[in-house]
Amino acid sequence: MVDRYATFANSAAGKALVTRLGLPTPPPLRRYSPGDPLVTGPVLVDAAPGGRLAPVVRKVLDEAGVTLRDPAAAAVEAGASATPGRLAALIFDATGVTESGQLRALYDFFHAQARTLLPSGRVIVLGTAPEDCAAPREAVAQRALEGLVRSIGKEFGRGSTAQLVYAVPDAPIESTLRFLLSGRSAYVSGQVIRIGSAAGSVPAGAPVDWEKPLAGKVALVTGAARGIGAAIARVLARDGARVIALDVPAAGEPLAALANEIRGEALQLDVTAADAPDRLAGYLRDRHGRVDVVVHNAGITRDKTVGRMSAEQWDAVLDVNLSSQERINDAILELLPSGGRLIQVSSVTGIAGNRGQTNYATTKAGVIGLVQVLAPILAERGVTVNAVAPGHIETAMTARMPVALREASRRLNSLSQGGLPVDVAETIAWFASPGSSGVTGNVVRVCGQSLLGA
Ligand SMILES: NC(=O)c1ccc[n+]([C@@H]2O[C@H](COP(=O)([O-])OP(=O)(O)OC[C@H]3O[C@@H](n4cnc5c(N)ncnc54)[C@H](O)[C@@H]3O)[C@@H](O)[C@H]2O)c1
Repeated sequence: MVDRYATFANSAAGKALVTRLGLPTPPPLRRYSPGDPLVTGPVLVDAAPGGRLAPVVRKVLDEAGVTLRDPAAAAVEAGASATPGRLAALIFDATGVTESGQLRALYDFFHAQARTLLPSGRVIVLGTAPEDCAAPREAVAQRALEGLVRSIGKEFGRGSTAQLVYAVPDAPIESTLRFLLSGRSAYVSGQVIRIGSAAGSVPAGAPVDWEKPLAGKVALVTGAARGIGAAIARVLARDGARVIALDVPAAGEPLAALANEIRGEALQLDVTAADAPDRLAGYLRDRHGRVDVVVHNAGITRDKTVGRMSAEQWDAVLDVNLSSQERINDAILELLPSGGRLIQVSSVTGIAGNRGQTNYATTKAGVIGLVQVLAPILAERGVTVNAVAPGHIETAMTARMPVALREASRRLNSLSQGGLPVDVAETIAWFASPGSSGVTGNVVRVCGQSLLGA
């Protein structure tokens, strides 16, 4: 659905008017197209004393052909208030921070560099997860980074994003760095991501073809006939996967068109049908002998306040969005080999709750529980499980919202606009990548840093 306000606010006449009225101007976001460079300019990587990740980051970026700025020269330039807007990304390694007084290093860095980012610039702070810290003071200082990063996400503007990445010493970080720096993460901001050691038999730093990371993989996407599911199917196919696009028989026509377009397979199946788990497991076993990536995207809403909600409305949402996914997982998880990826689609509503959506929010919070409980179990088999939690995404689902509510929902985030289905799909493709073997148990919001559930 077209965001007419954003189009108007970025026109010559509109820009002047919205500025005068003090209204938000949704910035155009840099989104990825195949062949795009990773970043649009030089990247500055600096560290607090004792940081363990900066050398790794510099090596990864250097090998990826990124131009790195020298921190000393950048500090002098920033001090002389030289040309603002010349860096594509600021990366700060805060792993050396062991007590709160040392957080001053982050103030010094971001104070000096606050105006240097290009439009759609990227801020990444690297740290040690508080639960992995050796001493309480270190854990406190590392936890404090969240407040700083989320505030920067709200301050820097012009389509920039800010994330905190907690990484263990041997974490494979390249896929996450690439995702966060690129236009693939256009609508992801204010997130805290944890990267552990590589799960299973995929060694850390295993070579990945970054243009076709999913070549040779079989991916299942439910609810793929339209909206976010169709975008997921397209992006996974673009990344090289053989995609099985699943949707209800009533959506047979658009499903077949999509499967043709991406040279994948169309599978008509209602995920709530009693025989769906067996039929699906049989299909995957007979045709492919396995499934490498499973994306549970099919979802419905039946909104009513709880006092007015019928039992049918409650049951329908619970069954499509949660219970059927558990039944299907029981039947097909054994078909995921080491290196497999289970990906769930939650929602910011599952984090914040929402008036009129007790049924929907229950399921989307349940999905987060599913990720948390399965992550350690599946890690033993080298399989990762993560969820995306989309905010306001422009689809048929949000087009049905009352106009005033829709407008508010679109603007109440740091980027002042709704996201696109492709933004959710790119995040899922990052989870799916063989390079993301250390990314498990995460719930990453694709919400432009929505104020809901903040
Ligand atoms: N649009 C948003 O802003 C938003 C925000 C947060 C989360 N989400 C979640 O993203 C997912 C996709 O949302 P969307 O906006 O693309 O929705 P959509 O309604 O456009 O598409 C959902 C698809 O799921 C299919 N589906 C529904 N019931 C099914 C069943 N029983 N079996 C198989 N397929 C079934 C539908 O036929 C449809 O093709 C959902 O899980 C939704 O809850 C969406």
